[in-house]
Parts: sequence; C-alpha cells; structure tokens
Amino acid sequence: MSYFPLPRPARIAVMASGRGSNLEALLKAFPHDNPLGHIVLVLSDQREALALQKAVEAEVEAEYVPWPKSRDQGVAYQTGREQFEQVAGQLLHDHRIDLILLAGFMRLLSPAFVQAWQGRILNIHPSLLPQFPGLHAQRQALEAGVSESGCTVHFVDAGMDTGPIVLQRRVPVLPGDTEETLAARILEQEHQAYPEAVRMLLAGDFR
Ligand code: GRF
Repeated sequence: MSYFPLPRPARIAVMASGRGSNLEALLKAFPHDNPLGHIVLVLSDQREALALQKAVEAEVEAEYVPWPKSRDQGVAYQTGREQFEQVAGQLLHDHRIDLILLAGFMRLLSPAFVQAWQGRILNIHPSLLPQFPGLHAQRQALEAGVSESGCTVHFVDAGMDTGPIVLQRRVPVLPGDTEETLAARILEQEHQAYPEAVRMLLAGDFR
C-alpha cells in the first residue's frame, strides 16, 4: 500500500548540503498554497549551506543539524550519523513530515532511518542510474565516453543511489564537454525532473 495520495496537502522536508538549486526549484513548485503539498522544513548538515539561506528567503524553517566527526566518547558513544539522525528524526516528527526529499545531501543515511521512511524518501542523482552512482557522476560519464547522460529521481534505500527509479531525463554528451558543461546541462533537467517526480508521487500516479 502506498502512503500517497493523501486527503490533504503533504508536508515536505528537504535535506541539502550545498548550494540548493534543486531546493529552489522545489520551493517554487511546492509553495504553501499548493494543494498537493508544500515544503515546511529544510535541514542541512552544513552550517554555511546556501540551501539554508534559500529556505530562509522563502520563509521556510531552516535548521542546521550537525553531523559531527565520530570519535570515541566512552559509554554514551554515538556516531556522527546517529547524532544527526536523532536530531533530524525529532524535527521531522515535530513538523509532522510526510515526505523527505534529498537534494544534494552528501551523506549516507543509516539502513534503519531509510527503512522507517520507505516509500516516503526520494533523492536526485546526476546520471542515468544504475550507471555512475556515487560521487562525480558527470566525470564518470565523461570518462566512460557515453554519448548520453541525464538525471534520475529515485526512492532511497539502504544502498548508494540504488532505490527504485521514479523518473529519468536524458541529455546528450557533446564533443568538448567538460564536467562543468555537462553538469550544467543535466542540472537544467534536474530542476524540472524533481518537481515532476514529486507531483507524480503525491498525486498517487506512481506505485
Ligand atoms: C545535484 O547535481 C544533485 O543531482 C546532486 O547534487 C547536486 C546538488 O545541487 N545530488 P544543488 O545543491 O541542488 O544545486
């Protein structure tokens, strides 16, 4: 059974580590008066993330949640990931979040966390998965010499960029492309693909 569609607007949280251009596209697509859903919370593991600023500008609650470097602290030892997930989990609960969108969130969440949000947590990745998971997807595509790349919106599971695919958008790889030119071409598609995938999910058009 799918969690969506809901009989009310979905409450969405975005997790982002960096510049937040996907966040911006999502904020535009899901403002407070969108009947399908709206973004009510933005979390970042980076205090200086531009994404947090963009959330504030859009008058959406923005929270920095540290992901501390793990070091041995004796009996009460918690890894950085455990600390992040505990605080983030509480915020998600307090804000009655229905759906989490990872948008340039550069951390791997634990299997237990991801399991608890199964079917309600999406990610966007700048390649045509299952090709080129992980870091530097655009560089990987150029090095592999493929003639086409793109982006993928997928459900998050315990693996790295491995969950079921919701939708993909393709772009050509052109002669003379650099990592930057290819990344920019893909990013343009990301900004359309992510809102589109979220719309499909919230409307119950994706099972
Ligand atoms: C995007 O290319 C996204 O696919 C990847 O990280 C980048 C984030 O960019 N996961 P931005 O922070 O949304 O601008």
